[in-house]
Amino acid sequence: MINYGKQSIDQDDISAVVETLKSDWLTQGPKVEEFENCLADYCNVKYAIAVSNGTAALHLANLALGVTKKTKVVTTPITFLATANSVVYAGGDPIFSDISNKTFTLDPAKLEEQIKNDQSIRGIINVHLGGNTSNIEEINKIADKYNLWVIEDSCHALGGTWKDKNGILRKVGDCSFSDIATFSFHPVKQITTGEGGAITTNNREIYERLITLRTHGMIKDSSLINNNEGGWYYEMQELGYNYRITDFQAALGIEQLKKSDKWQKMRRHIVSVYDQEFDFLDQITPQNHPDQNLNFSYHLYIIQCEKRLELYNYLKENKINTQVHYIPIHQQPYYKNKFGYEVGDFPNAESYYEKALSLPLYPTLTEVEQERIISIIREFYEKN
Ligand SMILES: Cc1ncc(COP(=O)(O)O)c(C=O)c1O
Repeated sequence: MINYGKQSIDQDDISAVVETLKSDWLTQGPKVEEFENCLADYCNVKYAIAVSNGTAALHLANLALGVTKKTKVVTTPITFLATANSVVYAGGDPIFSDISNKTFTLDPAKLEEQIKNDQSIRGIINVHLGGNTSNIEEINKIADKYNLWVIEDSCHALGGTWKDKNGILRKVGDCSFSDIATFSFHPVKQITTGEGGAITTNNREIYERLITLRTHGMIKDSSLINNNEGGWYYEMQELGYNYRITDFQAALGIEQLKKSDKWQKMRRHIVSVYDQEFDFLDQITPQNHPDQNLNFSYHLYIIQCEKRLELYNYLKENKINTQVHYIPIHQQPYYKNKFGYEVGDFPNAESYYEKALSLPLYPTLTEVEQERIISIIREFYEKN
C-alpha cells in the first residue's frame, strides 16, 4: 500500500531516542532546550518553544495573543479542525473567509473585504496549506492596516523559504510578517517527533507567556511572584496547561531536523514530476506552485480532479491511499450548530472540496511508485 504521507526514521533517529531513554531525563529536560535552539536557528527566529503537538501550539498562540471569550479570529475553512478548534478552546469565535481557487489558501482580497465589514475581528490565522506560503506579505499588510495580529499556522510548511517583495530571502517561521508561527511534528509532516509541535516568535513577552502557559501557568522567577517562601515556591497567576513534549521526542526532533532540507529537495522533485505529468491531463489541476517560490516546503500534493470519489476508490483498489485535505470546517455539524454556518457561505471552499484530493508525497516515494500512481490515474481517465 502506498499512503499519501509517511515518516522517515533511520538508525541515527533510533540511537538518539535510545540514548535519551538511558539518560536521567525523560520528560522536559536538556534535549527539549537543544531542540528549541536548533529550531530557532533553522527558522531564523529569536525564540522557539516545543510543545506536545501542533494543536497545543495553536491553543497557546491564541492565548498568548489575548484570545478570550468571544474574541473574533478569522481563518480559512480549508484547514485541519485544529486551527479553528484552537480559537474555540481559548473561548473565541472562529470566523471564516473564503479561499483563492488557485492557491487554496486565504484570498487576501476577500479577507480584506470581510475585515472591513467587521471591525470586531482581532486576529488572523493564516494557514500555509500544503506548504503554500504565497500570501504571507499580503495578509500581513491587511493585518497592519486594521491593527490585527497574525498567527501563521505553518504546520504544513516547516523549512520553506520564499523571497519577499524586496528580494530578501525569508524562512517559514521567521515571523518577519507575523506575530507567531506554529508547527506540527505529526508523522506525516516534514519532520516528526511522533506527536509534537512548536511555536516560534520574535517577541520576548509572548515567549515568556508561552513558557508559563505550557506548564500550568507556573511562575518561579522571584522577580515575577508576589511571595517567595523558599526554593520550592511557585505561583500560578493564570490558568495554564500541561503541553510539554518529552526529552526523547525532542532527541528525535533534533535528528530529524538535520535531514529536513534534504527531504524537502526530494519532495520538490516529486512535486515537479507530478506537475509536468498533469500539465497534459485536462481532468487534473494541481495547487498553484508559483515559479518564484520554488523553495516551498511541500507537505501535500493537492489536486482538483474530475470524478473525485471514483478516482479515490480506483486508486485504493490499486493499493494507493489518497486523502482529502480538507472538508470545509464551516460544514462540520459542530460549527453549523454552534456558529450558524450554512452551505453556500464560502463557495470557493465548497467547490474546492468537491474536487480535492491529495496524492502520495513523501521523501522516500520511489520513482517507480510515482510512475505507478501516475499511470493508474491516466488509466482511470482513459476508462472514465
Ligand atoms: C494545518 C494544521 N494545523 C494544525 C494541526 C494540528 O497538529 P497536531 O496534529 O500536531 O496537533 C495540523 C495537523 O494535522 C494541521 O494540518
